[in-house]
Amino acid sequence: MGKSVLVVNGPNLNMLGTREPEIYGKLTLADIQRACEDRANARDLGLGFMQSNHEGELVSAIQGALGTHDGIVINAAAYTHTSVAIHDALKAVGLPVVEVHISNTHAREEFRHQSYIAPIAKGIICGFGIDSYLLAIDALDNIFQQRN
Ligand code: DQA
Repeated sequence: MGKSVLVVNGPNLNMLGTREPEIYGKLTLADIQRACEDRANARDLGLGFMQSNHEGELVSAIQGALGTHDGIVINAAAYTHTSVAIHDALKAVGLPVVEVHISNTHAREEFRHQSYIAPIAKGIICGFGIDSYLLAIDALDNIFQQRN
């Protein structure tokens, strides 16, 4: 059976392209989705991709990954730094998780240095723009294939 990855995107990422382009670049979330689909296809993976501005919807999407996906790539955006609910949902589901960020959160304000996702993630990729997502898909595939 082919493996499948769910990519979860949190608040304000729907505004990529026009939102603070000096930090996040000019690519839109649709561009990121296309690039993730291409990478998943190249690696024979299924791909789900979602975005919500609502914490509860993100929790429900994570819960829904159980039985439908084999790993999660998550850019929880601002909820990274605040959400016990998303931490608990990821822990409850128990799938391998890669935390991603477009920007290098550690080179920014101090409130972005704390992550509620990091303690339950396999690893964290930040600061590489769209490549953060593609590297995370590669990392999950390596985990699936037990190549790491
Ligand atoms: C972000 C970094 C977060 O601190 C911020 O709240 C975001 C985007 C990133 O991808 O760089 O919304 O997750």
